[in-house]
Amino acid sequence: MTDTRMPAPSELSREEIDIQFRHAAEVARFHAKNGRVGDKAPLCFVQTFGCQQNEADSERIAGLAVLMGYKITNDPSEAKLILVNTCAVREHAEKKALSIIGQYKHLKDADSDVLIGVGGCMVTQKHRADQLKNSYPYVSFVFDTGSIHTLPSLVAGALAGAKRRFVIGESAGIAEGIPTERALSYKAWLSIMYGCNNFCTYCIVPYTRGRERSRTPEAILDEARSLIAGGAKDITLLGQNVNSYGKDLEGADFPSLLRSIARLDGDFRVRFMTSHPKDASDALIEVMAEEEKIVRHFHLPVQSGSDQILDRMNRRYTAEKYLGIIERLKAAIPDVSITSDIIVGFPGETEEDFELTMEMLRRVRYDMIFSFIYSPRRGTPAAEMPNQVPHEVSTARFERMLALANEISLERNQRFIGRTVRILAEDVSRTDETKITGRGDSPRPIHFTADPSVIGQFVNVKITGADTFSLNAELV
Ligand code: 5AD
Ligand code: SF4
Repeated sequence: MTDTRMPAPSELSREEIDIQFRHAAEVARFHAKNGRVGDKAPLCFVQTFGCQQNEADSERIAGLAVLMGYKITNDPSEAKLILVNTCAVREHAEKKALSIIGQYKHLKDADSDVLIGVGGCMVTQKHRADQLKNSYPYVSFVFDTGSIHTLPSLVAGALAGAKRRFVIGESAGIAEGIPTERALSYKAWLSIMYGCNNFCTYCIVPYTRGRERSRTPEAILDEARSLIAGGAKDITLLGQNVNSYGKDLEGADFPSLLRSIARLDGDFRVRFMTSHPKDASDALIEVMAEEEKIVRHFHLPVQSGSDQILDRMNRRYTAEKYLGIIERLKAAIPDVSITSDIIVGFPGETEEDFELTMEMLRRVRYDMIFSFIYSPRRGTPAAEMPNQVPHEVSTARFERMLALANEISLERNQRFIGRTVRILAEDVSRTDETKITGRGDSPRPIHFTADPSVIGQFVNVKITGADTFSLNAELV
């Protein structure tokens, strides 16, 4: 089928993608020539660290692996191709990735045919790339988030015995038309844009993922239609700051895009993340309130409740402005579920600043928060700021905040008791094999007894109980 869309300004050319498809075919032929097809197809293990954007990237990584003749496995020890998709947002995530990559050395030692590739946000930082170059010689190739589409040429080169390649900073274009391999047909990530322009002073993402680039509405709607046709029931639109979607295109903005998706035919629901409060508009709230297929959940990271800290984080809003959005949101969508990201122990955070964040929790009453102890990231302005908060102080504040957040979560979850809600049955419960876990508007998992055949379907359940982290229900 010919592609009649107008390409986005930052889209890669068709030729650049076609080259990669040719490399993928070359790799598949190589495996076929060696009898590695069908049941004997080589296996690929993709390991993902970090955010939903990385999860979405990993689906494209796996899609390319399948195109190259690999089958996806969950067991690294049987894989011929191991691809680690790393995260750099906090030091802990980097340490974990490096330790896992270290553990894969013995797989390469045992079988020299094994290829190990490392991608994701961590590798974009020069000191990490150097570390991989010098201390991890068994890593065959490294690729950044803008170079996922080059995987076929990297694998083809490595199989042909070419020297190690580090593809970093070579491309910031959007690669359309890359196949995806999804773990679940009924739940889908849909990236609408890449990168971030905000430069929050603690955050490494603008350095690792580059500037904002939006996909065209046509490309996104085409993908949404094909996801729905393929059985997707829950679609999450992804971007580091979805509210600035379309600023680099003509005539496109997030509320309009969201409305167009919500009006597509089919039985599905749509959600989005992440929203930056400085760009969360009334138009967006209106679309959410009006369109039935949009999940009544707003993830609006506040990061801190102190204006002084927000200013030094370069967040470009005040606590009051944030609370104004929350007020309008609650007025337009009664019972909306609100969640947030919060950083504890940002440089210079005083006891008073921290108390203001606690006050924010009390006023908004979040269904759930994701809280993080500040982790200095090399090259970001905050890492150089004076008055870094001692770890013991951050940890103690973190614990206090968690206790309050949990108390509020429990109260928020209890509001559902006695209600009948329509939820998507997502999986067998991780803690109780006899139960199914689903989700509705609230981000909290809902456990109920049902036949596993309901997985992937919408069902009505009546909420019978609630605790801090989950709800219990019975099938109606
Ligand atoms: N330290 C701690 N948390 C961070 N986040 C981003 N950078 C850092 C950091 N350096 C958190 C923010 C963001 C979430 C995805 O991760 O809260 O919203
Ligand atoms: Fe990081 Fe801020 Fe961009 Fe989010 S908006 S990715 S926290 S710089």
